[in-house]
Amino acid sequence: MASVSAQNARVLSGMRPTGRLHLGHFHGVLKNWLELQHEYECFFFVADWHALTTHYEDPTIIPDSSREMVIDWLAAGINPGSATIFVQSRVPEHAELHLLLSMITPLGWLERVPSYKDQQEKLKELDLSTYGFLGYPLLQSADILMYKAGQVPVGEDQVAHVELTREVARRFNHIYGREAGFEEKAEEAKKKMGKKNAKLFDSLKRRYQEQGDQEALQVARALLDGQGNITLSDRERLFGYLEGGGRIILPEPQALLTKASKMPGLDGQKMSKSYNNTIALRDEPAVVEKALRTMPTDPARVRRTDPGNPDKCPVWQFHQVYSNDEVREWAQQGCRSAGIGCIECKQPIIDAVLAELVPIQQRAKEYEAQPDLVRSILNEGCDKARDVARETIDEVRHAMSLVMV
Ligand code: TRP
Ligand code: SF4
Repeated sequence: MASVSAQNARVLSGMRPTGRLHLGHFHGVLKNWLELQHEYECFFFVADWHALTTHYEDPTIIPDSSREMVIDWLAAGINPGSATIFVQSRVPEHAELHLLLSMITPLGWLERVPSYKDQQEKLKELDLSTYGFLGYPLLQSADILMYKAGQVPVGEDQVAHVELTREVARRFNHIYGREAGFEEKAEEAKKKMGKKNAKLFDSLKRRYQEQGDQEALQVARALLDGQGNITLSDRERLFGYLEGGGRIILPEPQALLTKASKMPGLDGQKMSKSYNNTIALRDEPAVVEKALRTMPTDPARVRRTDPGNPDKCPVWQFHQVYSNDEVREWAQQGCRSAGIGCIECKQPIIDAVLAELVPIQQRAKEYEAQPDLVRSILNEGCDKARDVARETIDEVRHAMSLVMV
C-alpha cells in the first residue's frame, strides 16, 4: 500500500452545508470527529462546491447554511485550537487539483461510482446530467489528496469515493512518480541519511520486498519519518523506493467507516430532515420536550392499562441510545406489564436529551453572539488550509511539468 506514514496522522472530512444540524448528525458524525480531533491533526471543511453539484439552481441558501453548520460544529465541541475548520471554495487550489486530476481520470471510473446513477434516480426533480455532478467524486478526491490525509471518516455511502481516490492517487503516482533517473535519485537520497541508516534502510527494504515483512515496512517508514535532514521530495522518493515503486507524491487514504448512527428519529425511522422527524441541536428545550412527549409509541397501548411491546416503539430505540441497563430493564418490564405509562417511560429520555443539549446550546449561544469570532475562526482555518494546499499544488505542478525551470 502506497501511503506516506508521516501524513497518516492527518484526518480530513467534509460536510455539505445543510444548515442546522440535528441529533442524528451529532451521534453519527460529530461525536466521531470530537474523538479524532484529540488524536490526529484534523481538517474539517464546509463542502460548499459539493452543494452546488446538486443545488446549482438555488445556491442562495449556501452561505447561511454554511455559517449555521459551522456554529453547530463549534457548539458540539469541535475545537478550532486542535482542528482546522475551513470552507472549500475559499481554498481555490481544490479546483486546480480537481482539474489536474481530471486529466488522468478515465471517464468510466466516474460513471461506475454507485452514487452517480443512484442519486440521479433518487433526485429526479433535479437535472443532474451535468459535468459537475459526474465529476463530483473526483472533486472529493482532490479534497482528500490535497491534505495527503491518511484517514477519511465517512459514512457507508461515501466509501466508494475514497476507493476512487485511492485509484486516482495510484495512477497519479504511477504516471508522475517515475521521473527520469528515479533509482539514482533514490540512492542519492538514501546516502543523505548517513551510512548506518542507509544500511538499515537497505536491509529493511530487502526484508519487505523479498519476504513481504510488514513490520520491516513499518520500521523503515518510521526511519524515514525521523530523518530531519532530507527534503520532502527525497523522502517521497525513498517511500516509493522502499515499496518498489516510483515517488509517492499523493499517498493513498483509508476510509474510516463511521458506524451508522443508532440515533432514531422521532418516528423511529432514521433521523433526517426529509422525514421531518428531527431534534435540532439548537431547538429550544421546550420544543424538544414537546416533541418527545408527543412522539408516537406502540399503538397497542391505547389505554394506560394496555400492555405494550418496546420492540414496536420508537421510544425504546431512544432508550437504547440514552439509558443505562437499569433504566432499560425498568422500561421493558413496565411496558410489558402496563406498570408504567408512556409519558413516564419517556421522562428519563427527555431528561437525558435535554442534559446532552445543555452544553451544546450554551456554546452555540456564545458563538451566535460573536459573529466576528466565527468569521475569524474560519479566516484562520482557511489560511492554514491554503498553506498546506499550496505546498501540495506546488508538488503536483512540478510533477506534471507545469513549472518552467
Ligand atoms: N461528499 C461528502 C458528502 O456529500 C462531503 C465531502 C466532500 C467529503 N469532500 C469530502 C467527505 C472529502 C470526506 C472527504 O457527504
Ligand atoms: Fe414505548 Fe415506553 Fe410506552 Fe412501552 S411504555 S410503548 S416502550 S413509550
